[in-house]
Amino acid sequence: MAVTRTALVSGANRGIGFEIVRQLARLGVLAVIGARDTDEGVAAAEKLKPEGLDVPVVGLDVNSEDSAVNAVAEVKRIYGRLDILVNNAAILIDEPGGFKASLFDLKADTLRRTMETNLLGPVRLIQAAAPLMREQGYGRIVNISSGAGQLSDMGSGYPAYRMSKSALNALTRIAAAELSGGNIKVNAMCPGWVRTDMGGPTAERSPEEGADTAVWLATLGDDGPTGGFFRDRKPIAW
Ligand SMILES: NC(=O)c1ccc[n+]([C@@H]2O[C@H](COP(=O)([O-])OP(=O)(O)OC[C@H]3O[C@@H](n4cnc5c(N)ncnc54)[C@H](OP(=O)(O)O)[C@@H]3O)[C@@H](O)[C@H]2O)c1
Repeated sequence: MAVTRTALVSGANRGIGFEIVRQLARLGVLAVIGARDTDEGVAAAEKLKPEGLDVPVVGLDVNSEDSAVNAVAEVKRIYGRLDILVNNAAILIDEPGGFKASLFDLKADTLRRTMETNLLGPVRLIQAAAPLMREQGYGRIVNISSGAGQLSDMGSGYPAYRMSKSALNALTRIAAAELSGGNIKVNAMCPGWVRTDMGGPTAERSPEEGADTAVWLATLGDDGPTGGFFRDRKPIAW
């Protein structure tokens, strides 16, 4: 009998995370909205009801270890297993100037807060989810990274965010290596420049397009890649 897969997506009350949940649910995955404000998570889930998609919400603040552990435990309580983890929640708070922010204006607190959410958040969730995935002999972990973190194309602008995404890429490689051999695949992806609160209204891609590669990685077959970095379902340089 085919196993129905379950998924937890962080920061899924809006933007790309919300769209990943929608696309996974359409594929029949029991996807769960992780939201630090559960009212916002419930409001997001309501938006999927007209499509016939009934999606649960769990409270998840990736800045809190307890919250990460509890969210994974809650998915296990609801569905008995956790097959897919999408580390999507992130912040871009570099200033002044947002994308134009300079290294020489970077405050330690900005870097600390960015790393807390964009790097430590995924570390916490991977640590919480991996034992379950090992037990199940199945897991798909998708880290939503960014071209901004590519060392091969590193440049100026928004330094805290860039460093956090390079570190997330390193985490992807480390987790893939440590979890190899148990049918657990860990990959990173770049969604492109997407029209969300973070990407802004002039970005070139829709959330639907931005979510596509993440959903593909979340549902990889057993012969799929691990430890890779992808955009548009194709490998890209680190
Ligand atoms: N948009 C782009 O062009 C673009 C490009 C490359 C990569 N990305 C990446 O794609 C992912 C999604 O981005 P997006 O554009 O959808 O961003 P977004 O619209 O700003 O949404 C970010 C999401 O992360 C959540 N979040 C932030 N801090 C959190 C925390 N401590 N705990 C739990 N959730 C938290 C937010 O929740 P609240 O609503 O509670 O704040 C929100 O749901 C991010 O990893 C981003 O770095 C985006």
